Amino acid sequence: MYLELQNIHKTWKNKSGENYSLQNISLSILQNEFVCIIGPSGCGKTSLLKIMSGIVIPDIGKVIYNDTIVDKEVNGCSMIFQEPSLYPWKTVEENIELGLIFQKYPRQTRKEIVAEKIKLAGLENFEKLYPHQLSGGMKQKTQLARVLALNPDIVFLDEPFAAMDEILKNKFDNYLLNLWEKEQKTFVLVTHSLEEALFLADRIILMSPDPGKIHLEQNIDLPRPRDLFSKDIVELRKHLRNEISKFY
Ligand SMILES: Nc1ncnc2c1ncn2[C@@H]1O[C@H](COP(=O)(O)OP(=O)(O)OP(=O)(O)O)[C@@H](O)[C@H]1O
Ligand SMILES: [Mg+2]
Repeated sequence: MYLELQNIHKTWKNKSGENYSLQNISLSILQNEFVCIIGPSGCGKTSLLKIMSGIVIPDIGKVIYNDTIVDKEVNGCSMIFQEPSLYPWKTVEENIELGLIFQKYPRQTRKEIVAEKIKLAGLENFEKLYPHQLSGGMKQKTQLARVLALNPDIVFLDEPFAAMDEILKNKFDNYLLNLWEKEQKTFVLVTHSLEEALFLADRIILMSPDPGKIHLEQNIDLPRPRDLFSKDIVELRKHLRNEISKFY
């Protein structure tokens, strides 16, 4: 699996009638990579994820997924948004099963996959609950289980833990890492937290605003789990903080 963006340009008129654009974005993402995208609010991170997954088609440039030019929503990619989007009238297990029903999996296979993903996501004993009975974290776990049930190549995550406090977020970072290691998927995570990116990513992509561009790419070739206070990470953090501060 690979995903490649070649010289992408895209312009929108935003709500106040001004143009905003992404310009000159070239990027490739490899199988099993954990990529984090960071950058100031409004620089175009969500828009970039939508382009990568084929939800939005660029004005200029190509997105290539496994040798095919992307011109519609990509099969094999799944997106998780900041706000969990579960069906309120369905239970946890029914929510996880839904995509499999749409894909016409036979009943027995569906039940097996749902049971496996419930275990993987740590949702045992929550199967029969409805979304309103779940914490924000549990809702996101359900979303992740629902997405992973469809066995995508790439999971795009758009600030899924933004609404959580720091301690809970750390717990979820460990959880996500564990899931990524077990599932052997490609994860592309948008986050506002440099620390989160340093903890998780094989590569950090820092975007600059107005127009949205890739400011730099930083590989992080350090073993996991990472100690954020280790010398290497502290140095990287200083370097990247310095780069980010150029946009404020
Ligand atoms: N469909 C659209 N229609 C109009 N404007 C859009 C559309 N999508 C994005 N924009 C504009 O593009 C810019 C980038 O938006 P985007 O949501 O991608 O930024 P972001 O980096 O994800 O921001 P945040 O960190 O706040 O989530 C904004 O100015 C936004 O108003
Ligand atoms: Mg966004």
